[in-house]
Amino acid sequence: MTMNPKILQACPLPPPLAGKLPALCPVETLSDAPDQALFLRERGGEFTVLVTTGTQGADKGLIEALPNLKAICSLGVGYDAIDLDAVRARGVMLSNTPDVLNDCVADLAIGLLIDVVRGISASDRHVRRGDWPRVGPTMPSTRVSGKRLGMLGMGRVGQVIARRAIGFDMEIRYHTRSAKPELPWQHEPSLLALAQWCDFLIVACPGSPQTYHLVSAEVLRALGPNGYLVNVARGSVVDEKALVAALDNGQLGGAGLDVFENEPDVPAELLSNERVVVLPHVGSATRETRAAMCELVLKNVESYLMQGSLVTPVRL
Ligand code: DGY
Repeated sequence: MTMNPKILQACPLPPPLAGKLPALCPVETLSDAPDQALFLRERGGEFTVLVTTGTQGADKGLIEALPNLKAICSLGVGYDAIDLDAVRARGVMLSNTPDVLNDCVADLAIGLLIDVVRGISASDRHVRRGDWPRVGPTMPSTRVSGKRLGMLGMGRVGQVIARRAIGFDMEIRYHTRSAKPELPWQHEPSLLALAQWCDFLIVACPGSPQTYHLVSAEVLRALGPNGYLVNVARGSVVDEKALVAALDNGQLGGAGLDVFENEPDVPAELLSNERVVVLPHVGSATRETRAAMCELVLKNVESYLMQGSLVTPVRL
């Protein structure tokens, strides 16, 4: 807790959050400054709390430019865009918004899976082109129910996806660094073996140096021409060049992607491939979930200001 605390907003925030922050203490928005470097040099010392988003993050330069920073409150569950070394070095607290988005991200993962496997978006385009009488590019499609689902990551979101998949009579196995014996699903210590075993691989692990390009050319080959990849986690987990090559060479059945390596850039090869469904990172983007995420950020900021602690701290 600090006397005269002040909040710095890294970027424009959704109205339910931006509208309520000023009631807690004075707020400035970095992205409003005509010269951000000058703003930080002259006024960086005023701010004790930084509010940012999972996409915007906070790099080392920003964290170091705020010498009195005590807490970063981020909108989103993923915090891979925040420089954790800088956060640790400065002894800054960090919060994210876990749990409140589990259902909507899981819904989207299942939606993407059904879309790409059954060719829903591709068939929609087919009809709109006036091509109904002709055989579409994804016809016949592939059955979804009763297939083998491999989960890369079995955290909060992964478990909700797996529970949804039970409703489709899928057999489920998962790969994580260590097994979670409390879960009813089989742990597979090798991602390659999981990819060989499953029909569908859903990525639901955090983006981090440890998960970078885990879905490699080899893993995609193991998934095979009848296999499908869905990624609702982070683009960095999938080697995107290898994915483009696997799809171009017919080594993979298709991919449903909500996230990309260099958002908002999507490789042209993915955009033109009828066996790929692309979304603009909207896993949590429902009115209800975004409202709950904003509320959780507010609670974290308030808790820091009142008690010097966070409600949903990230363990650093
Ligand atoms: C997050 O909050 O990190 C997710 O990417 C939302 O989709």
